[in-house]
Amino acid sequence: MSGRLRVIGNTATALDGRIATAAYDHFALGTWRDRAYMSVLRARADAVLVGGRTFRNWPLPLVPDPEAIARLRAEHFFDCDTPDLHDRTWVNAIVTRTLDLPAAPRFWGDPRVRPRVYAPTGGAVASLVVGPTDPAHVAADLASTGVETLLLECGGDLMAQWLAAGLVDELYVTLCPLVLGGRGAPSLADGPGFAYRDAPRLRLRHAVPVGDELFLRYEVDKG
Ligand SMILES: NC(=O)c1ccc[n+]([C@@H]2O[C@H](COP(=O)([O-])OP(=O)(O)OC[C@H]3O[C@@H](n4cnc5c(N)ncnc54)[C@H](OP(=O)(O)O)[C@@H]3O)[C@@H](O)[C@H]2O)c1
Repeated sequence: MSGRLRVIGNTATALDGRIATAAYDHFALGTWRDRAYMSVLRARADAVLVGGRTFRNWPLPLVPDPEAIARLRAEHFFDCDTPDLHDRTWVNAIVTRTLDLPAAPRFWGDPRVRPRVYAPTGGAVASLVVGPTDPAHVAADLASTGVETLLLECGGDLMAQWLAAGLVDELYVTLCPLVLGGRGAPSLADGPGFAYRDAPRLRLRHAVPVGDELFLRYEVDKG
């Protein structure tokens, strides 16, 4: 727990921990179940955060899809309880240095989305919060707007920063049955990496195979 804010990461990884190819392209790594489970996690959160690069790859609302959740429930998926989605909105936070964000009317105009863009310098972007963009400042700002649960759907660049800051409480990982490989391909956590003794340690809370995928939930060991 980081003050009032609970921070949860959700990532689909290949067996080798990669989350995309070395081209940093966009594709669905997991099956429809993985994406539907992402909707469940979004439904339980108040805000979803990505980095500018992930947003440029997928500039669409980061909100739950009720039909996808219903489909999971129809096949008695192991964990799909959610609060009521009716009339809810979600903060969609983007962290960026370049402010290179696509116009994407489907994102900026969606009534379910409350955009919030964090950047160190100002520019002609809506919903901009100018200031420090390190995880502690972003977390404090989100908490000040009433966010209690933040879902990280970022890539390994930002995930590494949030883990290094000690602000991640839980990690949901869908282990997908493929190997991407590729020197320089992004992984669950990139950046400079951790020394072995400082590497975040986690406790396994569930490991549920469904089809060829393995749905994992870990709590970050704050001890
Ligand atoms: N498999 C999955 O679950 C999954 C999940 C997310 C993403 N992906 C994919 O994985 C790759 C992600 O790449 P990534 O790791 O670069 O994504 P990312 O962490 O979401 O985004 C990185 C971007 O965040 C911004 N940023 C990072 N640190 C910052 C800081 N301290 N202050 C301000 N801005 C900061 C920069 O944006 P600007 O460039 O705008 O300055 C940077 O390019 C993409 O191919 C994406 O599609 C896969």
